[in-house]
Amino acid sequence: MTLVPVTEMLQKAKKNKYAVPQFNIINMEFTQAIVEVANEENYPVILGVGEPTIQYMGMDYIISIVNAATKNSLVPIALHLDHGSSFEVVMKCIRAGFSSVMIDGSSLSLEENIILTKKVVEAAHSVGVSVEAELGTIGGTEDDITVKEEDVILPNAEEAIEFWKQTRVDALAVAVGTAHGMYKKKPNIQFDVISEVAQAVPVPLVLHGGSGVPDDDITRAISLGVSKINVNTENQVAFTEAVRAVLSTQSEISDSRIFLRTGRAAVKVMARSKIQLFGANYKVLHHH
Ligand code: 13P
Repeated sequence: MTLVPVTEMLQKAKKNKYAVPQFNIINMEFTQAIVEVANEENYPVILGVGEPTIQYMGMDYIISIVNAATKNSLVPIALHLDHGSSFEVVMKCIRAGFSSVMIDGSSLSLEENIILTKKVVEAAHSVGVSVEAELGTIGGTEDDITVKEEDVILPNAEEAIEFWKQTRVDALAVAVGTAHGMYKKKPNIQFDVISEVAQAVPVPLVLHGGSGVPDDDITRAISLGVSKINVNTENQVAFTEAVRAVLSTQSEISDSRIFLRTGRAAVKVMARSKIQLFGANYKVLHHH
């Protein structure tokens, strides 16, 4: 199956109150693990790629590995730029074959964010690529960017609704109190904002910083209109802990495939648990 934009898979998810995971990929093993689990669970997934990963893997490797992993997929899979920082990087990804992009203008003023996002929407939609945009700031650390708790800006519902009306993005990430990375204390999620915005705009909402959010908060966010949830750190931790356990107990190992295989299996276990949590309502619809 060819890569698809996120529009339709997320519309279905919003309507039927389940969420599609965005799992970030950083190498071949993550890509294989996630696409395999998606097919085993008969569940759509979004492969997220951030700019540091474009630097790490190289664009040609990303496209080739994702195409190899997805060409026989029986479930819809999107290849999505995570936190695109400029119009140029968005265009580079679209030209390379991404089916979806995020433009992150959240560090700009609201007006500038709207202008940049509109420009991306116009270019992406003309070639059938979906667009996610972000409003407000997600706390925590992602790659080399850290946002301190006191610098987190949570927009109100009116701003988010106005932002959507002006930009018409396909998926809207509104900062509601989650953070990238694991949490030191339980996140205080603004469920009232999720609910108000989700009812006022016809597109799905995106929850960034999905790692470490308690299951009941996830379920509640989905019931209120969140239809895409991004998870990266928990997969990274699963992979690394599994590899560390192998290397620290079997110090004689030199064949890297032994620990890479173990890491890959650990990502599958984690990704499967997220799909099962996000997709409680999907099972009811799709299971025979
Ligand atoms: P976590 O690393 O907290 O799961 O967040 C992932 C994310 O939001 C990617 O954009």
